[in-house]
Amino acid sequence: MIRVSNLTKTYGPRAAIQDISFEVGKGQIVGFLGPNGAGKSTTMKILTAFMPATSGTVHIAGFEVFENPLEVKKRVGYLPENPPVYLDMLVADYLSFAAKIHGVESNKVRAAVDRVLEKVALGDVRGRLIGNLSKGYRQRVGLAQAILHEPEVLILDEPTVGLDPKQIIEIRNVIRGLAGQHTVILSSHILPEVTATCQRVIVINRGKIVDQGTIEELSSHLHKGLVYSISVKKPSPDGLKSIQTIPGVHRVTDQGSKWMIEMDPNAGEIRDRIVDVAVQKGLGVLEFRSEKMSLEEVFLELTTNESPEAHA
Ligand SMILES: Nc1ncnc2c1ncn2[C@@H]1O[C@H](COP(=O)(O)OP(=O)(O)O)[C@@H](O)[C@H]1O
Ligand SMILES: [Mg+2]
Repeated sequence: MIRVSNLTKTYGPRAAIQDISFEVGKGQIVGFLGPNGAGKSTTMKILTAFMPATSGTVHIAGFEVFENPLEVKKRVGYLPENPPVYLDMLVADYLSFAAKIHGVESNKVRAAVDRVLEKVALGDVRGRLIGNLSKGYRQRVGLAQAILHEPEVLILDEPTVGLDPKQIIEIRNVIRGLAGQHTVILSSHILPEVTATCQRVIVINRGKIVDQGTIEELSSHLHKGLVYSISVKKPSPDGLKSIQTIPGVHRVTDQGSKWMIEMDPNAGEIRDRIVDVAVQKGLGVLEFRSEKMSLEEVFLELTTNESPEAHA
C-alpha cells in the first residue's frame, strides 16, 4: 500500500532525512518511532504530498506522490503535527468545510460529517465552538477531518502529544478502531505509545532508519547479541544465504538497501569472516557497521513515561 524508496530531504546543507526506505502493507498499523528531531514529521509531510522530497520516491496505492499529488491526497488522510484549528468555528461547520476541501460532493457532505462524528465519538459536541473544546476533543476533530473522504491511508503525526492519560487512552481506542479499514502510520517519540497501538515499528534516528520489526523483534535486537548491518551494491539471494549460514550468525533480515545481521550471543569475533564472504560473493560492500549501539542510543533518548509533564 505504501512504498517509500531512498527518500532524502535536505534543508539547506543539512539532511533532515537520508535514504529512508520502507514498506507498509494494506490494513497494517505501523509506528514511526524516534526522538525529537529524528525526521518523523519531515517524512510524513512528504508522504502526504505536502512537501516535495529532495530525492527518492513514495508510492501510495500505486501513485507516486510527486507525480500524482492529487491522486495521493484523495487516498490519504493526514493529521499534521500542529493541526489547523479554526477556533471560532462550530465542530460540524468546520467538518463540512473540510469535507468540501477534501472534494466530498455537496449532497454527501452531511452524511460524511455524521459518519466521522460517530466514528470518533464527537456527536455530543457537534454544535460546540472548537475554541471551547479540550485538547483531547480538538485532536478528535483533527482525526475526524482526516477520515472525511474515507482515505485508504491515514498518516497521524504524534496524535497523542499533549493529551492527558485518559484522553490518550481514548484516542488510542479511536485509532485502533480505524486500523483494518485504513492503513495507518503514526509517529511518536514515546515508547509506550507505539507498543500500545502498533503491529510493527520503524525506528528512526538522525534522519535514518536504525531498525524495524515487531516490538518483540526490536526488543530481542536490544537484549540479544550484537547486530551488524551491511550495505551492498549488488545484493543477491545467494549472498544473503551465504552470510546467514556463517557459524555465529543468528539471522539476516533484508531491509532493502541494507541487511541486518544478528549474531548469536556467543558468536565471538566473526566480522572479518562476514566481510570475506560478502567479498567472495561479489556483493559490492558499501558499508559495514555495528547497529546495536545506535538502537540503544535511540531507546535511551525516547520518552518512556506517559505523563504529560514528561513530554512537555
Ligand atoms: N523547515 C525546516 N527548515 C530547516 N530545518 C528543518 C525544518 N523542519 C525540520 N527541520 C530539521 O529537520 C530535522 C528533522 O525534523 P522533524 O522532521 O520535524 O523531526 P521530528 O518530527 O522527528 O521531531 C530536525 O533537525 C529539524 O530541526
Ligand atoms: Mg515531529
